[in-house]
Amino acid sequence: GLPEYVKIVEVGPRDGLQNEKVIVPTDIKIEFINQLSQTGLSVIEVTSFVSSRWVPQMADHSEVMKGIHQYPGVRYPVLTPNLQGFHRAVAAGATEISVFGAASESFSKKNINCSIEESMQKFEEVVKSARHMNIPVRGYVSCALGCPYEGTIIPQKVTEVSKRLYGMGCYEISLGDTIGVGTPGSMKRMLESVMKEIPPSALAVHCHDTYGQALANILTALQMGINVVDSAVSGLGGCPYAKGASGNVATEDLIYMLNGLGLNTGVNLYKVMEAGDFICKAVNKTTNSKVAQASFNA
Ligand code: HMG
Ligand code: MG
Repeated sequence: GLPEYVKIVEVGPRDGLQNEKVIVPTDIKIEFINQLSQTGLSVIEVTSFVSSRWVPQMADHSEVMKGIHQYPGVRYPVLTPNLQGFHRAVAAGATEISVFGAASESFSKKNINCSIEESMQKFEEVVKSARHMNIPVRGYVSCALGCPYEGTIIPQKVTEVSKRLYGMGCYEISLGDTIGVGTPGSMKRMLESVMKEIPPSALAVHCHDTYGQALANILTALQMGINVVDSAVSGLGGCPYAKGASGNVATEDLIYMLNGLGLNTGVNLYKVMEAGDFICKAVNKTTNSKVAQASFNA
């Protein structure tokens, strides 16, 4: 059966903006996050402590982290690929972090410039340091349903990497369909494999919507007992190192579906649409959310 409560992890300020070519002013990012904080969302991914040469849009990570108002009851994780990023994140006030690995060797090389094995060693260092400071660590596994360089990724590889991250102490593993090629069929096969090693309570899904399958894939995951879902307001998003990948599933569309299923999220759809409208105007884009399009045209 379906879970009663679904936790939404809003990745718009990070995944949503990281692929935008035009640099969004820091004060706009801060205002965007502050608006999202007042929607009922309980987790908002703020930024990435990565190299500004690799992802220029995230160069203001410290200013954004320091500048936002941290609302009670909201958690503000950030991405940290290595110890250097971790130390900068902590210095800027981060109290939750995510490491991000991949189930594809080629993607790992392109995205974080090291092999999967090397990345695991870096993540172990990060997790160890985080543990000493009581900082929870989430683990991402990219290319869980396909890779832009290698094509098909076998569920066994996703399971292996997920198990490694879970084993080192990541409290939650977010399975990323980085390029949005998955279907309910491949999602089901992948989850069946991963769930042999990791309980569904420690799993999340992170679906990009390139092929229009994201909501169907998410529903499949919910039916299999997963109740944490990543999404980005307005359907913004994409990874600069995954060419052709389009936005994340839109938070508005996800909430609309969950509301229709009678599942509780604690998030106010209307307020999320307002935050989406704000950021779309700021980046001069029209929303990718079908629900926002329908509502604003009504
Ligand atoms: P590297 O060049 O291999 O790093 O980059 P290095 O350790 O060899 O150091 C080289 C230089 O980078 C040095 O500077 C370091 O100080 C610096 P220099 O001495 O030459 O001036 N450096 C850093 N600077 C800032 N922050 C750091 C850092 N580490 C080293 N943390 C690195 C390795 C990981 C840094 C680089 O490849 C990188 O920044 N990659 C980021 C890629 C990225 O952000 N991708 C998008 C996020 S992942 C994603 O979107 C997928 C996800 O959404 C899930 C899904 O959809 O599947 C999560
Ligand atoms: Mg992503």
